[in-house]
Amino acid sequence: MSTKKEIYITQPALPPLEDFIPYLQKIWDSRILTNGGPFHQQLEDQLCAYLGVEHISLFSNGTLALVTALQALRITGEVITTPYSFVATAHSLLWNGIKPVFVDIDPHTLNMDPARIEAAITPQTTAIMPVHCYGHPCEVDAIQRIADNYNLRVIYDAAHAFAVRHQGGSLLRYGDLSVLSFHATKVFNTFEGGAIISPDAKTKQRIDRLKNFGFVDEVTVVAPGINAKMSEINAAFGLLQLQGIDAALAQRKAIDQRYRQLLRGMKGIRCVDTAPGDSANYSYFPILVEDDYPLTRDALYQRLREQHIYARRYFYPLISEFPMYRGIASAHADNLPVASHIAQRILCLPIYPGLLPEQQAMIVDILAQGC
Ligand SMILES: Cc1ncc(COP(=O)(O)O)c(C=O)c1O
Repeated sequence: MSTKKEIYITQPALPPLEDFIPYLQKIWDSRILTNGGPFHQQLEDQLCAYLGVEHISLFSNGTLALVTALQALRITGEVITTPYSFVATAHSLLWNGIKPVFVDIDPHTLNMDPARIEAAITPQTTAIMPVHCYGHPCEVDAIQRIADNYNLRVIYDAAHAFAVRHQGGSLLRYGDLSVLSFHATKVFNTFEGGAIISPDAKTKQRIDRLKNFGFVDEVTVVAPGINAKMSEINAAFGLLQLQGIDAALAQRKAIDQRYRQLLRGMKGIRCVDTAPGDSANYSYFPILVEDDYPLTRDALYQRLREQHIYARRYFYPLISEFPMYRGIASAHADNLPVASHIAQRILCLPIYPGLLPEQQAMIVDILAQGC
């Protein structure tokens, strides 16, 4: 058995267990376990205040929130999206019987390249689903201009973008809807969880009905909704997590800065920048292992694993390479040269509150040994 401590790409931040017990006691006392109980309501209110948004609907996970966001806006036909994301982005389209149309990414932001959207629009296109990959903001103004010109809706997969601000306000206020994930691996987690940010109360009301089977009242069902409600346990945990979020974000920032300092000048390793002026959440630390690095990305990934460091190749393979997408014309690698290139070179290094400076130094040492 190995004596070396494993370092994973992330480790969920957890408050002391005893701090959670009073919340559990309240749930046991009230016997309200789900269906929009008091903790659910409090978490919605506190998240609105923290994120600087007006309307939020909590979900049991981000994937069901994506599926429901598409239902809420009655999206059909084709949706333009990015192949460079977690599979849930495109899966949410298939679950709605919608055809994903993949467009390539920008080589610097690694987000959907707005310059490629227009060429992908057909009479069947109804929406654009971009991803703020790693929490780095998409070119929201350019995307909105195209959406306005062609009368398309925009649903942002903002699973990585908790607390990211852009142009003086929340990044989540762009587009028609934004979808968050509160999965255990995310900056803010409720074990499992997610949310949709709506621009108005009417849209939130439709979403709240859709996540509860379509119920309006005891005897009225207005849509074939799903069960995607967040439970009281998850909501209570979210309230506790929110108390520590600023400290967690500050620690992530310090880790990000230390990596950048340690990696400065290392031949063949490029850190992915966030857009200038944007306030990031440091949810990931992506590097590109370029052609002048002596090892391939996969050889470096293996070398790190041998030292019990579990970096991850987010995002490789591209969504468009999975069997259920491969047959779509836009999934062809010739249509996605930048995403294909990046997917072969990307590596996300461990980043989480509690990652020690000496652990970071050890990781960077292994990278340097490759040189
Ligand atoms: C970009 C992206 N979209 C969607 C999801 C799905 O969220 P969840 O795991 O909460 O269902 C994730 C991550 O898990 C993700 O990274």
